[in-house]
Amino acid sequence: KRVTVLMGGASAERDVSLRSGQAAAKALEKAGYAVTLVDAGRNVLELARAIEETRPDVVFNALHGRFGEDGCVQGVLNLLGIPYTHSGLLASAAAMDKAFARSMFESAGIPVAKGVVVRKGDSSPLPRPHVVKPLNEGSSVGVYILQAGDNRDPLADWPFEADVVLVEEFVPGRELTVAVMGDKALGALEITSDRGFYDYEAKYAPGGSRHIMPAPIPAADYAEACRLAVEAHRVLGCRGVSRTDLRYDDTVPGRPPRMIVLEVNTQPGMTATSLVPEIAAHAGIDFPALVRWMVEEARC
Ligand code: DAL
Ligand code: MG
Repeated sequence: KRVTVLMGGASAERDVSLRSGQAAAKALEKAGYAVTLVDAGRNVLELARAIEETRPDVVFNALHGRFGEDGCVQGVLNLLGIPYTHSGLLASAAAMDKAFARSMFESAGIPVAKGVVVRKGDSSPLPRPHVVKPLNEGSSVGVYILQAGDNRDPLADWPFEADVVLVEEFVPGRELTVAVMGDKALGALEITSDRGFYDYEAKYAPGGSRHIMPAPIPAADYAEACRLAVEAHRVLGCRGVSRTDLRYDDTVPGRPPRMIVLEVNTQPGMTATSLVPEIAAHAGIDFPALVRWMVEEARC
């Protein structure tokens, strides 16, 4: 099979995507595919032409963030009639819009943090500390925490052009992430960071965070994290591989831990040291086997 790896693009996560794409391409070659790399950082007509020129049987989508993860590129591939890895147009768009995804989770009974969408000029009704997030970025780009006593407007000092942000209650405790492959959870991993907040630096700088696989939490909670991730993947209509981030609050002695779903990543990082490949390896699926499965499951 001929596989074209789409990577790069123009989003804030371009660099991460280049690394995901290169790692995936290497593993795909190992798995026996004829691989071509295409950088998606161009206009849509040029992009469509560049993809067509490589005459792929399948597109491996290694893009992250805007356009590559939000349904836009998925729509182009639908129009071209080329099967692609990961989620389709609708699930991608739904997962990328953090406010929309929250409402889908809530209606399905999946626990989420308290949250509100705040528009420019509005003040947030939530007590601080709370987390301010753009509706449509990944890798914690643009995310910041307003601490107790900080009375700034959530949109003041905002580093991006945005008229709306999502403001969520800050849930203390631990960070978990669960990889989902098809309709099964592969396992739950705990991420710890000395920075206190698993931000862009902590995610990608060497030594910025530590991964503990499997997450050292009670078996019933581990199973519940996996169940919630599969449920979140299913509710949004995701395909292929996704990764769900959760908070696990066991900070209140005597109270059972509280677990909430933060988000589903429909285009999770795919560098050789990324979370999904690490969780898959623990489940006995090496990186070439993982990407082979993704290519064989590709749909249009
Ligand atoms: N948004 C990054 C790539 C991730 O979820 O892994
Ligand atoms: Mg994300």
